[in-house]
Amino acid sequence: MTEPTDVEFRPLTIPASMDASDADEFREFTRVRNEVYREIAGTDDDALTPEELLPHYQPSPEEIRYVWVAVVDGEIVGRVSVDLPLEEGSRAAFWLIELLRAHQGRGIGTAGYRLIEEKAREHGRTVLQSWTQHPDAPGSRLEPPTGFGSIPEDRAARFYLRNGYTLEQIERESALDLEASAPDVARLLAAAEAKATGYRVVQWQLPTPAEHVAAYAWMKSRMSTDTPAGALEFDEEVWDAERVARHDRKTLDGGRTMLVTAAQHVATGELVAFNELVIGHDPAAASHQEDTLVLREHRGHKLGQLVKCAGLTVWRRGIAPRSPKVITYNAEENRPMLDINEAIGFVPVAYNGAWKKVLE
Ligand SMILES: CC(C)(COP(=O)(O)OP(=O)(O)OC[C@H]1O[C@@H](n2cnc3c(N)ncnc32)[C@H](O)[C@@H]1OP(=O)(O)O)[C@@H](O)C(=O)NCCC(=O)NCCS
Repeated sequence: MTEPTDVEFRPLTIPASMDASDADEFREFTRVRNEVYREIAGTDDDALTPEELLPHYQPSPEEIRYVWVAVVDGEIVGRVSVDLPLEEGSRAAFWLIELLRAHQGRGIGTAGYRLIEEKAREHGRTVLQSWTQHPDAPGSRLEPPTGFGSIPEDRAARFYLRNGYTLEQIERESALDLEASAPDVARLLAAAEAKATGYRVVQWQLPTPAEHVAAYAWMKSRMSTDTPAGALEFDEEVWDAERVARHDRKTLDGGRTMLVTAAQHVATGELVAFNELVIGHDPAAASHQEDTLVLREHRGHKLGQLVKCAGLTVWRRGIAPRSPKVITYNAEENRPMLDINEAIGFVPVAYNGAWKKVLE
């Protein structure tokens, strides 16, 4: 197989803001990112504006991120990136390669992948993990060891397998029609309220109010330890007030709105469950449901259903009434969470593979 000689991998220029004189490359980088997702998924549900994306690329004490643009004939045709979390003792590296379809299948991905292993080795990282969407297709399929879900053995799957990866988990992407689901959401909210005696709903929009910072930080840290991960490896994340502030700024600096709906254990005042809904600057775009978690000691009281339905109610009525749908991701084996989502009206729209390789 001959190497493509016409591709150059150039470190991405990160401008201080989208008004800066060197922001053109980041604008084009974002356009190509969105185009790749449109080609794979057939929707713009994951599209972001450069203003929304840029805060995620500013230097952070939480990770080192290397990003390259793949350039052919002076045009950006894709991106390569690798994130190295800075949690104490981390062995992990998270990466992606995304190329426009017209430039796939001629060795650019293979050449880009070399940069990823190079950086991982340079930093002593041995657990490499990566996610991608595998649109449904006929033909042979692959199943993860969790026993839940499968994906077609498509080009991306062949690429991972060829580079020594194993498929560890299937993640389901689901979508909810906000308007059509309103009656079910109301019914399920009432049912959850009836069951969740001793708890009450507390809601806020970012920035996190001072009185909730410590509790929100604790729940965010549990998100890294208490969700089903199969054999994937995640570092336990340490969240303090500064990290919450950085998290809030990443959302707000990009002009995005986030609603956090939490359940409070009335007797202790402790926040024990939460759900996040977010939308960008376009009020008619899809919303995203990000983290949802019930702390282990408080499971079994319908608190997941409570925070999800309470969040969706306020979201549709007051915050994002023009947003047509909500997108969310769950591990395919996460039955308790999928049960709630399916009852609310979320339907599967795509499946992602979670891939892992341990370097010698
Ligand atoms: C998955 C992905 C990164 C692979 O990159 P790529 O450049 O298409 O991969 P390569 O060209 O190196 O290899 C792909 C195919 O081209 C073939 N190929 C590679 N070099 C070639 C060459 N010089 N001449 C002809 N064929 C070649 C390979 O044999 C391979 O064949 P296959 O698809 O039948 O398995 C890319 O297709 C992509 O961006 N997909 C969408 C996003 C995605 O799924 N990313 C996954 C990682 S996050």
